[in-house]
Formats: sequence, C-alpha cells, structure tokens
Amino acid sequence: MKRRQFIYRLGVGSVTAVAGANVLQSCMKHDMSPDGQAYVSVVEPPFSQPLSIAKSVVNPANYPLVARQTLAPVIKDKNTSVLSFTSNSIANPLFRVDKGKQFSAQYTNQTGGKSNIHWHGLIIPAAMDGHPEATIPNGGSFQFTFPVNQRAGTYWYHPHPHGATARQAYMGLAGMFIVQDEEEQQLGLPAGEYELPLILSDKRISADGALQYNPSMEEVMTGFMGETVLVNGVAGPYHEVAPTVYRMRILNASNARIYNLGFGTGSSFTLIGGDGGLLDTPQKVSQVLLSPGERVDLLVDFSQFSQGKAFLRSEPFNEGGQAQGRQAFNLLSFGITKSAGSGFNLPTTLSTLTPLPAATNTRTFTLDMMETMAGHGSMGSMGMHRINQKVYDPARVDEVVKKGDTEVWVFDNSKGDEPHPMHLHGVQFRVIGRTGQRGVQPHERGWKDTVLVAPGEIVKIQMTFADHAGRFVVHCHNLEHEDDGMMLQFEIK
Ligand code: C2O
Ligand code: CU
Ligand code: CU
Repeated sequence: MKRRQFIYRLGVGSVTAVAGANVLQSCMKHDMSPDGQAYVSVVEPPFSQPLSIAKSVVNPANYPLVARQTLAPVIKDKNTSVLSFTSNSIANPLFRVDKGKQFSAQYTNQTGGKSNIHWHGLIIPAAMDGHPEATIPNGGSFQFTFPVNQRAGTYWYHPHPHGATARQAYMGLAGMFIVQDEEEQQLGLPAGEYELPLILSDKRISADGALQYNPSMEEVMTGFMGETVLVNGVAGPYHEVAPTVYRMRILNASNARIYNLGFGTGSSFTLIGGDGGLLDTPQKVSQVLLSPGERVDLLVDFSQFSQGKAFLRSEPFNEGGQAQGRQAFNLLSFGITKSAGSGFNLPTTLSTLTPLPAATNTRTFTLDMMETMAGHGSMGSMGMHRINQKVYDPARVDEVVKKGDTEVWVFDNSKGDEPHPMHLHGVQFRVIGRTGQRGVQPHERGWKDTVLVAPGEIVKIQMTFADHAGRFVVHCHNLEHEDDGMMLQFEIK
C-alpha cells in the first residue's frame, strides 16, 4: 500500500491506537497534507563558523565514554541542550584503532533513560554489539572490550535502545570509529590536516537554539528531517584549505535525510572507499548518494576550483520517493586560501576484494507498509513499517543462519514508495545487484553494511556469516522507521 492511501484510510480515530498519544498531539498541530509528504526544506545558515574536527583517540584502553546531557554551541551565540559523549560539544571522540588491537571503553549512561552503544559496521561478538535489547539503565555502566580484526574503514557508533534510538542519536550521540591497517597505510593517502572526517546530521532548531524532536505521524512515515544540516555538530561551517588533494570520510548520521553529495557543476571527485573500507579501484564521479548510516571515503582536488572557494553540496535526486531530493543546498564552505603542500599521486589499484564463496541459501525481505488495518485488533505499539509483514519483536528470532554459511539476501521494495537504507549487524556484505536503471553504484563496489533500497527497487546482497555466533538485527536505518519496528532479529548459530 502507498503511504498516501494509508494515511487516508487510517482516519483520525485510529491515530491514537497506532501511534500513541505523543504522536497524536503533534498530528493535531501538524497539517496532515493529503499527499502525506513531510519534506522539510534545508535553510542554509551563513557559512561563518569554523569547522570543528573531532579529536582522534588512538587505540584507546578503558576510554571513559560518558553519554550525558550537556549544552553545546550548535548554532552561533546559542547554547543548545544536547546528548553527547563530550561536555559542551557534540563533536564526539573519533576513535582510531589499528587492525589487530583490542578496543576498550568504560561506558556510563547519564542520558536520563536506558541506552547503549552499537558499533556500526564492526564485526564483534554479539555481547559487545549493542543489540537493541542489551540496554544499560540510566546511571549504569558497561565495559566494552573487543578485538578489532577487520579491514581498515570508516565505521561509527551510536545508541541503539529500541524505541529511543532515533531520539538519542538525533540529540547528538554519534561518533566515528576508524580502523587503520597496513595495506591502507602503504597507499600514502592524504592524512593529518589533509584528511577531513565529516559527520552530517540535520536538526530542527528553534529560534532560542533548542533541538526539537517531536515527529508527527507523517514524519514517522517519511522520517524526521530538520532545516539545519550540521557538519561535525556545527551549523554553517567554513574551512580553509590548500589547492591540493584532500581525503574526506563522510558519514551520514542523519535520521532520515539522504544527501546527493558533490562539489557543484563541472567538478568531480574520486571515490576510494565505502562502509567497509577501500574499493578495489578509484572511481571518478561527480555525485554520490549517501543514505542514513552509510559512509563514503573520497578524494577531492581543490586545485580544480578557480574561484578560490568551493562547497560540499547536496544536489537534487530521484531515489528518495516523493518526499526527498527536491532541493539543492550547500553543506560546508571551503576557502582555498592556503598554499599548496606536496601533491598526491593516486594509485590505480587500492585494494583487493576477497571474492565471496557461492551462496547456499537465499532469503527475501519484503519492505512494506502495513497492508491492512483489519485483523490486527488493538494496535497497541505495533508499528506501521514492517519487514515481511512483521514488526520487530525481541522475543522472536526471525531468521536462523548457520555460522560459516554464505547467503544472498534480497530486499524487495518494488511495491514501496519510501526509501529504506537497510543495515545488518554482525557482517559486512557485497551488493550484487539492483533492479532498475541505476544498478550497483560506484561507492557500493566494495564491502558494505548499509545499502539504500529506493522506492521500486529490489537490491541483492551477499555475505558470509563467518565470525560470531549470536543474535543480531537487520533493520532500516531511517531511524523513525527503525523505532517504529522495521527491524528483524537473526541468529547466527
Ligand atoms: Cu547504525 Cu543497528 O545501526
Ligand atoms: Cu549497525
Ligand atoms: Cu525505512
């Protein structure tokens, strides 16, 4: 069923039952437009705040990671109440861990509610993964200790308590986790001041500087979007660069907003990596579509811009359903004011991607809205976003996978009209096919943990469940969809 028809059929009387009193209130305030669209246009702030780059914490041992409530200068001259791992900032620690090392952090929850941390993209034991049911009560702590044994890449961390993931991540609890290895180091990629880790997230900020998080029912459908896009926790950042090659690791930590990233008409850049590290060969492109949860690793040569300035931008796109992709906007302003350092020669080969064994099983996951209200009785907390017509239930294991098996999973959004960035815990996969015109995208040619399944598309992935037994989840990384129940449990046995 299409979202529009769904909203029509629902009628006001059923709203309370389906979505709860909170949502009802905002529905009332909200104008429920008949086309069911909840796109929020981006408003560009003046690009006048310095870009802040998170402090690298290298190979941490027992790092004190305190999730707390604090005030941070998100917009100029205002103090915004946020959740953060850092006091007076939402620039959270950037962990850099060498492959083969052990990571450990002493986590303390001072968020005010139950919470935890999920290490997105890391292949670690189930007990360390931040499963949505493995939460820590407010005031409690937990010792995270795990070996880091995977390819170099740009991973990240965020809370994952079911039903509150969206709000807690939105309020500021997200950071980058970079794994480094020798293969990558040998490429001599731009580093130090020539490497920019960038975290994108959009917020709704009121005039007094407060962060709003109050999704209406339409916004549970579309996902919650804000008019202000923060880069590394700052609205309207500006950064001075030299006319040479920079490496950018970009994470889309937004709840629902998709970006079609680029540097403007006539410019190009080179993709070198995706979620799970380096691609086999560099890919020259002019745009890359990045959905929530995905990362991209790219090189951009600022000597191609003759005006002394450039912007990281988002261009219009067609893969966002009816609600997204209408608008072009700037995200980060660069002044090309510094003198050029040494040049950089791009190697023709970046890495070798180990081929996957043949799959012995295929599972299909149909992404859809609830088909019908009939037969569900009292809706209680049952969500509207489903996978295979099921809403997440922690008491139910939906799929059992044999450890060591290679499988193909098919995400079928052919009847849907919403984009779903689908994500698996516990593994990295390869994207082996996508129906429709766009096929497998250049940034999807390496290892991935999150893949955009646009409206109308069927996407196939393949992976080996080689490493850790236990319970993991597969879910949509549109965080409103996820909290609404668009998540299933699988167990590796
Ligand atoms: Cu980044 Cu289960 O999510
Ligand atoms: Cu994850
Ligand atoms: Cu979704």
